[in-house]
Amino acid sequence: MTKTFIMDDDAVDISKIPYRTLNTGDKIPGIGMGTFGSDRYSAEELAESVRGGLRVGYRLIDCAEVYDNEKLIGDVIKEALDEGLSREELFIISKVWNNHHDPKDVYNSCVQSIKDLNCEYLDAYFVHWPFRNHHEAFADISDRDKNSRPYSHEEFMETWRAMEDLVEKGLVRNLGVSNVTIPKLKLILRDAKIKPALNEMELHPRFQQGELFQYSLDNDIQPVGYAPLGSPNRPERDKTEDDYSDWDHPVIERLANKYNVHPSSICLKWAVQRGQIPIPLSSKRKNYLANLKCVTEDLLTPREFDDIRSVERDNRLIKGHVFLWEGATDWRDLWDIDGTIPGWNGYGS
Ligand SMILES: NC(=O)c1ccc[n+]([C@@H]2O[C@H](COP(=O)([O-])OP(=O)(O)OC[C@H]3O[C@@H](n4cnc5c(N)ncnc54)[C@H](OP(=O)(O)O)[C@@H]3O)[C@@H](O)[C@H]2O)c1
Repeated sequence: MTKTFIMDDDAVDISKIPYRTLNTGDKIPGIGMGTFGSDRYSAEELAESVRGGLRVGYRLIDCAEVYDNEKLIGDVIKEALDEGLSREELFIISKVWNNHHDPKDVYNSCVQSIKDLNCEYLDAYFVHWPFRNHHEAFADISDRDKNSRPYSHEEFMETWRAMEDLVEKGLVRNLGVSNVTIPKLKLILRDAKIKPALNEMELHPRFQQGELFQYSLDNDIQPVGYAPLGSPNRPERDKTEDDYSDWDHPVIERLANKYNVHPSSICLKWAVQRGQIPIPLSSKRKNYLANLKCVTEDLLTPREFDDIRSVERDNRLIKGHVFLWEGATDWRDLWDIDGTIPGWNGYGS
């Protein structure tokens, strides 16, 4: 007898969640659930969020091997599939970590994630960062991997070829990049056989990344927005004195008051209306339910949507200090601020 996956009584009506179409033709929910514990939440807590998240209507789950919780999340996925949820309804993302960019490691990492997540194939697989530079969990802002090096396009393409093989083997349906810049994306697009379908980048009202966002859309690459609420509980290494909160800007506060919602709902309505796919994380049912529900009701007016432009402060939160190499000036070297890639030798230009 076929089982029906039982949703919670107050679940969100999934038919009201917008879906996007990727350059491969695959459909993806317009909002998902994040699973990075930020050195604060345990694997058990976040697996529990995924368990509850599926019951309230989340169908896109953003995972990664480095989050160290794929096995427990996989148990939850298996349980949901056994209880009648169909695999096709889910969109499962994972990412290869920086110390596994070597082609044979890319394959092994992907197979391990599929096994841990109990998902047969990945809907999308990302290169988590475009560097082989590694850091341990709980790394401090001053920690550096002594083998760290600047971006190497040759090395990146070696990794990308291994990613393309995963698609050809049927293990992965879509490829994604993350933490790239326009100069790097230009080179990747020039040399990829299989174009990235998704670009995961930091996106929230204080950091809108207008140029990279538009460049991605212009090249038919779907932006996925991480830290969509301004990641208030991000790891200590990613907190600096100059950072702003997304929640206390007067425009966000005014709209939160008008709609009688938490400011995080305004960040998410804006994100979905703009066309990026936000992947908020929450360990609390009340919060993750509100995060999903808010994008299915009371959309911002065009005027309100435009007002959020003024919240922009170019405030990158995940600056990436721990990925810096010897001789780098500061974290801005990771982000090609002046349009060039520091330390890159110009191969193939
Ligand atoms: N590709 C990358 O390099 C990369 C980098 C960073 C993150 N990510 C992905 O993006 C996801 C989201 O980013 P993030 O986790 O850093 O930040 P975020 O989603 O912006 O913020 C998460 C925090 O907001 C709080 N929160 C959530 N909903 C709330 C609500 N309705 N009211 C009040 N507080 C609320 C949560 O606390 P409570 O638990 O108390 O609700 C949580 O600590 C990650 O989990 C990960 O999957 C990817």
